[in-house]
Amino acid sequence: MGISDYHTPVLLEESIAGLSVIAGGTYLDLTFGGGGHSREILKLLGDGSLIGFDQDPDAAANKIQDKRFSLVPHNFRFLKNFLDYLGIDKVDGILADLGVHKLKVLGGQKKYLGLSGFDLEVIEFIN
Ligand SMILES: C[S@@+](CC[C@H](N)C(=O)[O-])C[C@H]1O[C@@H](n2cnc3c(N)ncnc32)[C@H](O)[C@@H]1O
Repeated sequence: MGISDYHTPVLLEESIAGLSVIAGGTYLDLTFGGGGHSREILKLLGDGSLIGFDQDPDAAANKIQDKRFSLVPHNFRFLKNFLDYLGIDKVDGILADLGVHKLKVLGGQKKYLGLSGFDLEVIEFIN
């Protein structure tokens, strides 16, 4: 799935404002997806760093080419292991967009059912 097929990030302005990005800080986007939230974080990040997680192999196609950004193609439940590996013991903010993209539902690929909120979103799409 390319970025052009991806959705407009939900509550983009509100969630970025709530994150209060500090230039030079270290941030995590646990649900990278199409990278909409990550791109906004990078605009404010100065020389900081941003690590995105996404367990869906499709997300790799949206990877942002920016030396401040790294994409970890795994479930964010392993977040602590990756941060330990990278030598990061503190971050300045974490964003998680715990929605489900409609293409994943309508395409008949019910992926990653572990997310809370998934059932509600499925009902919305079916209705
Ligand atoms: C609603 S989308 C995120 C959209 C993203 N914020 C954007 O701006 O494009 C949710 C994403 O989270 C990913 N995801 C869901 N559960 C995950 C998990 N446990 N670990 C890693 N990624 C996960 C999905 O693969 C999906 O790409």
